[in-house]
Amino acid sequence: MILVTGATGALGALVSERLSGRDDVVLGTRAPERLRGTSPVRRIDFDAPDTLAEGFAGVDVLLLISAGYGEDDTVIARHEAAIAAAEKAGVGHVVYTSLTADGDHLPYALPHRWTERRLRDSALTWTILRNGLYAELLALLTAPSPDGTVTAPLGDGRAAVVARADLADAAALVVTDAPAHAGRVHELVGEHAVGGADLARAYGAHVRYEPGTLAEARAGITALGVEAFQVPMLVGTYSAIAAGFLGRTGGELRALLGRAPRPAIEAITSP
Ligand SMILES: NC(=O)c1ccc[n+]([C@@H]2O[C@H](COP(=O)([O-])OP(=O)(O)OC[C@H]3O[C@@H](n4cnc5c(N)ncnc54)[C@H](OP(=O)(O)O)[C@@H]3O)[C@@H](O)[C@H]2O)c1
Repeated sequence: MILVTGATGALGALVSERLSGRDDVVLGTRAPERLRGTSPVRRIDFDAPDTLAEGFAGVDVLLLISAGYGEDDTVIARHEAAIAAAEKAGVGHVVYTSLTADGDHLPYALPHRWTERRLRDSALTWTILRNGLYAELLALLTAPSPDGTVTAPLGDGRAAVVARADLADAAALVVTDAPAHAGRVHELVGEHAVGGADLARAYGAHVRYEPGTLAEARAGITALGVEAFQVPMLVGTYSAIAAGFLGRTGGELRALLGRAPRPAIEAITSP
């Protein structure tokens, strides 16, 4: 049996779609009432560790979708609960959606690296999918202002972003052929890196790229009233791209998918 956690999230829903029709798939979510497909659904909430033994019973392959919104200690506690429960329930293989190694300077890298280490140190069979930054996230972070200016502080930096749908395809392929990926770490970054000037061109002839400063971005994000932990996450994403840490491209996604990934610019401008 394959269990997908986080099945109502953006990535989890896409993976669930790809696995629908299989009779060995169970979807896990905090909110089972939100799922109305053909696959059976279980309540899976890493914040309720006592319920996870039952939730993971009989699972051969667990797709552990990171539950990454929160302070590091919150996210680590969630992932610890999930992995400890997988150990206790005798789960055969855990596939974890991590973050590209090139993202090590991102503020949210730490819980991913912690979780990878926790899996490596366990007796579980594991596969780590080091997902690149979502193209859809970069789209949100670089949306032009109403007067047609991209002010995202990316400097001359570029990011090898990936369409979330391609990462869902990759995850679905891996969980349905898990033994072939045992003990492997897949670096799933894009084949082309895009920066602020590329994005402005793609958004339209009237759009200009006039990057602001990180301080301006921080003030703008804070003014939106987002949760406190999200401010450094978002500002740190700009900073890591601007400093050139997310521009490295790779071909592993193509090799895994057996086809070209969706071009990043297309995923950004036509999500
Ligand atoms: N590579 C990137 O650029 C990037 C960008 C943003 C986030 N991420 C990471 O990738 C994950 C999936 O991305 P997404 O776009 O699908 O995010 P999303 O749409 O915001 O979904 C959040 C996910 O976290 C799960 N979750 C939250 N709290 C949980 C808990 N207590 N127990 C179990 N699951 C919990 C949700 O599951 P349910 O609501 O179904 O229970 C849902 O699948 C994120 O959670 C984050 O860790 C990656």
